[in-house]
Amino acid sequence: MPEQSIPKEAAYQIINDELMLDGNPRLNLASFVTTWMEPECDRLIMSAINKNYVDMDGYPVTTELQTHDCICSFGIFICRPWNFLQNRCVNMISHLLNAPIGEDDIAVGVGTVGSSEAIMLAGLAFKRKWQNERKAEGKPHDKPNIVTGANVQVCWEKFAKYFEVELKEVKLREGFYVMDPVKAVEMVDENTICVAAILGSILTGEFEDIKLLNHLLTEKNRETGWSTPIHVDAASGGFVAPFLYPDLEWDFRLPLVKSINVSSSQIIAQYYQFIRLGFEVSTCSFAFLSHYVMKGYRSIMENCMENAKAVKEGIQATGRFEMVSGDVGVPLVAFSLRDSSRYTVFDVSQSLRRFGWIVPAYTMPADAEHVAVLRVVIREDFSGSLAERLVSDIRKVVADLDGRWSRTAIVAEVKAEEKPGGVVAHRKSVRETTQPQEIDGDRRGRVDRKKTNGVC
Ligand SMILES: Cc1ncc(COP(=O)(O)O)c(C=O)c1O
Repeated sequence: MPEQSIPKEAAYQIINDELMLDGNPRLNLASFVTTWMEPECDRLIMSAINKNYVDMDGYPVTTELQTHDCICSFGIFICRPWNFLQNRCVNMISHLLNAPIGEDDIAVGVGTVGSSEAIMLAGLAFKRKWQNERKAEGKPHDKPNIVTGANVQVCWEKFAKYFEVELKEVKLREGFYVMDPVKAVEMVDENTICVAAILGSILTGEFEDIKLLNHLLTEKNRETGWSTPIHVDAASGGFVAPFLYPDLEWDFRLPLVKSINVSSSQIIAQYYQFIRLGFEVSTCSFAFLSHYVMKGYRSIMENCMENAKAVKEGIQATGRFEMVSGDVGVPLVAFSLRDSSRYTVFDVSQSLRRFGWIVPAYTMPADAEHVAVLRVVIREDFSGSLAERLVSDIRKVVADLDGRWSRTAIVAEVKAEEKPGGVVAHRKSVRETTQPQEIDGDRRGRVDRKKTNGVC
């Protein structure tokens, strides 16, 4: 704490100047989280920023909006058997997710600050339910486990650690980067509290085959007498699939799907924040009711998919990359280098920063760690012209890295000739002598940090 104060204008300037050094959120293609909203939303934010919406007495209108007219937060945890929050917005979402409730019934669910919190709540509920059933049967209840794919978001690992549940991960393999339902069901045992499937994998945007999972698990439950349920982590796909693939069965239409978390802050709808202020209620209300509605959401998602297609085709046309993401899923493009012998996706990611783009590079989880990819998430505010710009900058980066490599090789050969005996340096070792720390250190760090390396 400084002893002396400075004028508030100067304090503002100092902080604002420092913040300018941050990346540009709109060019942050690593993030699923909304980085642009309508100007009217920004105005609503400013007018409600000083309201703490859990203070229902002080802010009854905000509370009213929350409980009757909008989705109340970012992550929504919706479940079947518990009834603890009568929220009309949860009701709207439940209908969107095909919960088997009549028009006059009330859905149950709760708003959370994000999908991580929603997942903690869902996981805890499954754990308690499993424990209570085991206790009632007089069976041991001290070794709960949960089955997921190795592609899950890091919050599932946190859930397992915080709440002492063994995480049983279905390993991936090259060319298959989502949970294999057959292997998942094989891993289920009497201590499994639930199988967690992802709608919109963080690695490739793909939807897991939840219908097949439901079918196989139903068979297993019938054979064993267990009642292992399914949770769907639809943080990124929950507001994509209902609009783009309404016939895809992944939600409450499947009997074993007992809970779903969805996130209105991902891809479209609303900014992310960690505390509960009034603005999130009013902006979400705006997003869901006044503006987007079903038709609006569908057209936004179609637009995102078109831009994703343009990016994908542009990248493919360079001839240097292999597509890792498919055509069905959340709008993202994941791709790997065809030839990584001279430079890697980490170099491409690093070089793109020069143009302002934040494009994460990461290695796949077990057992596909040898596959390294770049990922671009296409959000509502990513326009066709930005797509062209990105592809053109990727071309420049690749040309630059190619050029850098040839220059390095020429210098090395000249040096080798100068030496008595004329030892010819090995290409890889030449490069390591020019830039060993930055590239290897950076890459190793990313591998070590595994799922927290920018893919969240
Ligand atoms: C599939 C999935 N699950 C969970 C999460 C965690 O969500 P949050 O950051 O809102 O806690 C994310 C975040 O990107 C995600 O993509």
